[in-house]
Amino acid sequence: MTSDQHKQELKNAPRHVAIIMDGNGRWAKERGLPRVAGHRAGTENLRRIIRAGANLGIKYLTFYAFSTENWSRPKAEVTGLMRILSEVIDRELEELNQEGARLVHIGHLEGLSKVLQKKVQHAVELTKDNDRITIVLAFNYGGRDEIVFAIKKMLRDGVKPENVDDALVSQYMFTKDIPDPDLVIRTSGELRTSNFLTWQSVYSEWYFPEVYWPDFNEEELRKAIEDFQSRERRFGGLKES
Ligand code: FPP
Repeated sequence: MTSDQHKQELKNAPRHVAIIMDGNGRWAKERGLPRVAGHRAGTENLRRIIRAGANLGIKYLTFYAFSTENWSRPKAEVTGLMRILSEVIDRELEELNQEGARLVHIGHLEGLSKVLQKKVQHAVELTKDNDRITIVLAFNYGGRDEIVFAIKKMLRDGVKPENVDDALVSQYMFTKDIPDPDLVIRTSGELRTSNFLTWQSVYSEWYFPEVYWPDFNEEELRKAIEDFQSRERRFGGLKES
């Protein structure tokens, strides 16, 4: 690819892409494997999508890894997902840091084991000054929960009703220093938003590829971005004349 073509591709590229990594269970089932094997395959995929995203100039990549509703899954699956998070940090943190990636966590750390909480906090602290790409990990995250939590905090802070506006509420979200997602991708063909970035995604473009998350490769990401580039975002206004 020539550098001109490369630049062309980056024109109007989304700054923030958020992904609902759906379909791991079905991917595993089709292969006669346990669900956790699907999550493991999905974890392998994180690496290549982060790399591809950074090369495409995406500055923020958010991954929905564990929702506040996922606690109701079978115990073995919940334990498996906790273990995966722990192993991923052990295995990838050093390289992530060297590559200039910043890790941010959104959601609640409470509920995770003390050891895992410490691991996440350490990873966030270690990478906080990196600026090539920001990886936002939504773990024990729910969009409604985030809004409820924000309201409680505003009340506790004694915020006056007349001072409440969009900008202030955004500051009370876990994502307070992160721009809203331009593009949200949900793999596997399911057409739901499932409590993901409820406040932040109101003007996002949504994209629903039919492939399961472990099969969502660089080519699929490129297709998603090309689709995004062909859309006209109006944010409730009119087409520019
Ligand atoms: C949804 O697929 C996926 C999840 C609930 C978990 C996603 C987690 C990963 C890809 C592992 C990476 C995570 C960490 C901790 C870094 P599903 O299980 O609902 O699939 P199904 O709809 O086919 O059953």
